[in-house]
Amino acid sequence: MQLVGPLLAIESSCDETACAILAPDGSVLAQRLVSQDAHAEFGGVVPEIAARAHLALLPDLARRTLQDATLSPADVAAVAASVGPGLIGGLVVGTNFAKGLAIALGRPFIAVNHIEAHALSARLPGVVEGGAAFPFLLLLASGGHCQCLAVEGVGRYRRLGGTIDDAAGEAFDKVAKMLGLGWPGGPALEKLASEGDPKAFALPRPLKGREGCDFSFSGLKTAIARQIAPYGSEPLPRTVAADLAASFQQAVSDVVADRVSNALAMMDGPTLLVAAGGVAANKTLRARLTEVAERHGLRFAAPPLALCTDNAVMVGWAALETCAEAARLGLPALDDMQFRPRPRWPLAEMAERFEV
Ligand code: KG4
Ligand code: ZN
Repeated sequence: MQLVGPLLAIESSCDETACAILAPDGSVLAQRLVSQDAHAEFGGVVPEIAARAHLALLPDLARRTLQDATLSPADVAAVAASVGPGLIGGLVVGTNFAKGLAIALGRPFIAVNHIEAHALSARLPGVVEGGAAFPFLLLLASGGHCQCLAVEGVGRYRRLGGTIDDAAGEAFDKVAKMLGLGWPGGPALEKLASEGDPKAFALPRPLKGREGCDFSFSGLKTAIARQIAPYGSEPLPRTVAADLAASFQQAVSDVVADRVSNALAMMDGPTLLVAAGGVAANKTLRARLTEVAERHGLRFAAPPLALCTDNAVMVGWAALETCAEAARLGLPALDDMQFRPRPRWPLAEMAERFEV
């Protein structure tokens, strides 16, 4: 199915409530996003609060997004939503809202895998100079995910490795909390690290030098806790906190660079290294990934931050790519009304939707 009109996309799998409207060629006609701030006082996303906020926010957000694009609901040719993986409450809200709208308008509903949306976001028109041709390596590093994915085609993903404990962003958040910084901790930790010496503390490099491209961050967290312990309940001197932040950021970047280098070697002729997810905003990490890509004779690309973190534009784009792929394969027009929200939805299953 090649869409003939604009597509409305919804994202509600974590703590971002977002709507976007894309033209069939992928150009963004309008988008709106609310980052729920109610979670900060709890130091992390509270699923129940997130789901209720999505429910309260979505109808008005969708209406305003349509207004921004000067469209009426009847102009919408299809409705898409992240149906998984993610927090089940938010997925139920977003999926049911999108399905309800699709039914009311008599239009198809397109189910989107949230990780697939991250994976394909580099292919949005204008994101990577010259385009992101398959196959490419995606490092997805966010608060909930840390994995290396070989992106071989629409619906064709191979998970080369991933974290065996914390996600990269989770490690940043936990260490930031130990250093007395607010949540989310990644940006605050990066700022503090700019005042510190990355060589001040000899921290471990978990899994560095090992085969494969799995990640582990819990040992690093423990190492930081050990350095902080002697201060007891006293506040950490700022210089110590800054040195710890810088040393931690360096250790994470070293480890991620090593793992990504292995992942590139595990692929057959990758065209590009792409990083997405909130942690991809980190400048030290980006610099290391640029070096890794160059060593492999490749370019490094990270979509602009607003597309790296959760958003509805990537959801809309993944829906368009899925529709186009189905059309290319001569399959009947997609309508995913039977798809239920799924807290887990392995990417390895994505090829199934193109099987006849
Ligand atoms: O992709 P994202 O916005 O949300 C999801 O987790 O889905 O990622 C948020 C994560 C948080 O853990 C945050 O601390 C981390 O990304 N993060 C960073 C930076 N900016 C955000 N980590 C390191 N350096 C940053 N500059
Ligand atoms: Zn995400």
